[in-house]
Amino acid sequence: MADPLFTIAATLRAAFAKVTGLPADSIDPVVRPSDRADAQANGALALAQQLGKNPREVAAAAVATGLLAESCSTVEVAGPGFINLTFKPEFLAAQLAEAATDPRLGVRSAAQQRTVVIDYSHPNVAKEMHVGHLRTTMIGDSLVRLLRFVGHRTILENHIGDWGRQFGMLIEHLLDVGETEAVHQLSVSDLNTFYREASEKFEGSEEFKDRARQRVVELQSGDPETLGFWRLLVDESMRHFNGVYSRLGVLLSNDDLMGESAYNDMLPIVIARLREQGLLVESQGAEVVFPEGFINREGEPLPLIVRNSVGGFGYAATDLACIIDRVERLHADLLLYVVGAPQAHHLNMVFAVARMAGWLAPPVEAVHVAFGNVLGDDRKMFKSRSGETVKLSDLLDEAVERATAAVREKNDEMPPAEQAEVGRMVGIGAIKYADLSTDRIKDYVFDWERMLSFDGNTAPYLQYAHARICSIFRRAQVDRASVRAVVPSLAEPQEKALALALLQFDSTVHDTLDKFSPHRLCTYLFELAQAFTSFYEACPVLKEGYEATRESRLALCDITARTLSKGLELLGIEAPERM
Ligand code: ARG
Repeated sequence: MADPLFTIAATLRAAFAKVTGLPADSIDPVVRPSDRADAQANGALALAQQLGKNPREVAAAAVATGLLAESCSTVEVAGPGFINLTFKPEFLAAQLAEAATDPRLGVRSAAQQRTVVIDYSHPNVAKEMHVGHLRTTMIGDSLVRLLRFVGHRTILENHIGDWGRQFGMLIEHLLDVGETEAVHQLSVSDLNTFYREASEKFEGSEEFKDRARQRVVELQSGDPETLGFWRLLVDESMRHFNGVYSRLGVLLSNDDLMGESAYNDMLPIVIARLREQGLLVESQGAEVVFPEGFINREGEPLPLIVRNSVGGFGYAATDLACIIDRVERLHADLLLYVVGAPQAHHLNMVFAVARMAGWLAPPVEAVHVAFGNVLGDDRKMFKSRSGETVKLSDLLDEAVERATAAVREKNDEMPPAEQAEVGRMVGIGAIKYADLSTDRIKDYVFDWERMLSFDGNTAPYLQYAHARICSIFRRAQVDRASVRAVVPSLAEPQEKALALALLQFDSTVHDTLDKFSPHRLCTYLFELAQAFTSFYEACPVLKEGYEATRESRLALCDITARTLSKGLELLGIEAPERM
C-alpha cells in the first residue's frame, strides 16, 4: 500500500465515517493529485449532498477528527468543501522505505486473481510479419507482463491465421517447386515471395486453380498427406515468427499457438448449440444469428454469418468456438483481444451473439483492446519507400543499426561487443516504446529521429536515466543493496517530489491495467525520470561537503533506478547498466 494517495484515502474514509456515521467502505473520499498541495479530497461534496448537510462543514468535521494529522503537515478546507492535503516528509519517507525493501516496489497484488486469456500477435502463415503486427505484439506482451506482476493467471494465445482457402494454392505451389526446394526457399528468402508466386500462378492458370481448389477439399477432409504439407508451411512460418519474437524479447512461444485451425472440430458444435437455442436463422441460404442492437444503415437487423450459403465456416464461427473454448475449457474469466480497431464491429457482434447464447456471462468479460495504425510521414499507412508494407524484421535491423551508431558515438571507449549489445537494447527498446507510449487507440507516426532521441518521452531517455544512476553507484563504489533500508530525509522540495512520484508506481500499474493502456505506464516513467533529473540537479549526491545526506540520496537513487528498470521490464524493454 505504498501510494500515499491510497493510504490517505483510507484515513479519510475513516474520518468521514466517524463524522457521518456511514460505513467506511461505502464512502468514496475522491482523492486526486493536486497542483496546490500534494493531494485533494473532494468526497465531502457528495457526502454532504447525500446527508443534506453543508459540504464545508462535513469537510471541516473530518479534518477535526485529527486522523489526518499523522500523515499530513497541513490540511485545509477550500472552496465549496475540498480538502487540500500536504504530506509530512516523514510520512512519505517511511512509505518509501517500505517500498524500497519490497521486491514488488510497493505494488499491491490484484484484489482478486483472474484467469486471463490474452489473444495477441496473430500473424498469418506464409506471410511475413509486418509493421501492422508490431502493436498487437507489443501491447499484448506488455499486458501479459503487467497481469502477471499483479498476480493474475495468464494464458497467452497466438491466434495465427493458419486455415482457409489460400492453403490450397500454397500447397500446390509447394508441390510444384518440390518439397525440399520449397523448404529451402521458405527458410532463406522471405515468406512473401513464396506467397506471391503461389497467388500469381493461381491468377494465371486455370489448371493450377483447379488443383488448388481440389487441394482445399482434401485439406478440409483431413487427408493426411495434405495435412503434412500444410504442417510444413505452418512450421516454416513459425520459424520466421519465432525469430522476430526472440529479437523483440516477447514471451510468446510455440506452446501458445492456438491458430484458427485449432477450432475446426468445434465449428459444427457451434452451429448445433446455436440451433438448439433457437438463435440460428436461415437467411439467403446462409446460417446466421441476428444479435440484438446491430442494424445496418437502412435500420434493418444485421446478421452475423456463422455458415455461408455454400456451407463454409468463416471468421465469426471460429471466434464463437474460440469463446466457448476459452470459457469452458480454460475457465478464463477475462478475455482480451489485442486486435486492431477496424475489427471492433466484428468482435462486438461475436461478443453479442456469445452473450445471447449464454457462453459469455458475468463474471466472464470479453474486452477488445483496440489500437490504431502506424503511419508514415505522409500520415498514410506506414510503407517502405518502394510502397510496400514494411517487414518487421527489416524494421528491427534498422533500429538496431541506428541505435548502435548512436551508442558508439556517445561511448567511444566502450568495447565494440558492448556497444553492439547496448545498441540492440536501445534500438529494440526505442521501437517498442514509441509504440507503447502512444495512447493505443490513436494512430501514431513512425519517426526514427524521435524514437531514438535521448531527449523526450523515449526509451533511450529512460534507459539513459537508469544507466546514469547505475554509474553513480559505480563511481561511489557503493553496493546498491546497502542503502535499501535507509529512510531518506526528503528535506528538499525536489526530494519530496521525487518520493511522491516513486510512490505512485503502485497506482500507475493498477491504473494501466484497468484501462489496458500501457501508455499510462510510459507517461509515468517519463515523469519519474524528469523528477529524478530535477532532484539530481538540485541535490548533490556524491559531492564533497554533502556526506550527511549522501546515504539518504543514494537510497533515492537506488529506488528510482529500480522503479525505472521494473517499469521498463513491464513494457518488455531492457535497461542497460551503462550507455
Ligand atoms: N488473424 C486475424 C487478422 O489477421 C486476427 C485474429 C484476432 N483474434 C481473434 N480471435 N479474432 O486480422
